[in-house]
Amino acid sequence: MRIILAPMEGLADVHLRRLITAQGGFDWVVSEFLRVVDRPYPDRVFHNICPELRQGGRTESGTPVRVQLLGNHLESMASNAKRAVALGSHGIDINFGCPSRTVNRSMGGAVLLKEPDTLYRVVSAVRAALPKPVVVSAKMRLGYDDTALMLDNAAAIEAAGADELTVHARTRLQRYTPPAHWHELGRIRAHIKIPLIANGDICSVDDYHRCVEVAGTVDVMLGRGAVKLPTLANQIRANQSTVTQWSTISPLLHSFWQELSLTIPPRDCVGRVKQWVNYLRQSHPEAEALWCIIREERSSQIMNALLGATDQ
Ligand SMILES: Cc1cc2nc3c(=O)[nH]c(=O)nc-3n(C[C@H](O)[C@H](O)[C@H](O)COP(=O)(O)O)c2cc1C
Repeated sequence: MRIILAPMEGLADVHLRRLITAQGGFDWVVSEFLRVVDRPYPDRVFHNICPELRQGGRTESGTPVRVQLLGNHLESMASNAKRAVALGSHGIDINFGCPSRTVNRSMGGAVLLKEPDTLYRVVSAVRAALPKPVVVSAKMRLGYDDTALMLDNAAAIEAAGADELTVHARTRLQRYTPPAHWHELGRIRAHIKIPLIANGDICSVDDYHRCVEVAGTVDVMLGRGAVKLPTLANQIRANQSTVTQWSTISPLLHSFWQELSLTIPPRDCVGRVKQWVNYLRQSHPEAEALWCIIREERSSQIMNALLGATDQ
């Protein structure tokens, strides 16, 4: 069983990656995507998207981080992949799932699921740029509007030399609307030989088992489920749904606030904390109570009074 923390742009940044992976249970984590254009990026761009590269490409608890690239410019995808790995990324993940209109308009992300040949060319270019021991993975959705090209896309990614494929069990059209269609993953599982990592709406130990049963793979990527319940990976490993005490989560929130306060403007810190509490309240009644206090809050002073010192 392998459990991966999902890339989540604007949500699972370096701070949240540190706090969630510190709870244990994750084999690796994928960075927020770096949108590749037609030129190689300077090192600072890689360090911005993945500050862990300054510490051996690992989070503080030692979980390897894999940089995710998004784009279709072959030469530039290859050269940027090479540079990310030289800087310490543990492999390269390629994004074929982003539903954003802006990203898709520039022919990046999920729009490429309309063109299996392009997927093949992008993955081949990145694969050819990296020595074999370096892992190249891809992350796709079930399709763009429908699943008609789902198996062709998966096969193209495999034929191009990807080592692993993660599939978010929804089409681009379905965006994030529940349910995730895990049974489609079973069809992909039967069609390719490389490891398949199931993704989408795995938010509990029970979800994990139901997904594994129909997807036919034990490897999963956890996104929002781990943001709601940072101990989820460990619970899945232990096969035990336990209630995580607020006394475990509350210090993480304090730490999050304090780290953010040192790195981004106060107004943005307030927004980021509210964003996380909004997820946490789905699993923790104490977070719901905190949410009621902070939901309309804009002042960093009040937030500082609530979260400035660790309550242990
Ligand atoms: C806020 C947010 C940002 C995301 N950013 C990325 C991203 O940068 N790259 C990517 O491949 N997927 C991204 N995703 C998709 C997730 O990785 C994942 O596939 C999706 O949320 C379904 O899994 P989940 O139900 O476990 O969250 C994002 C999802 C969310 C909610």
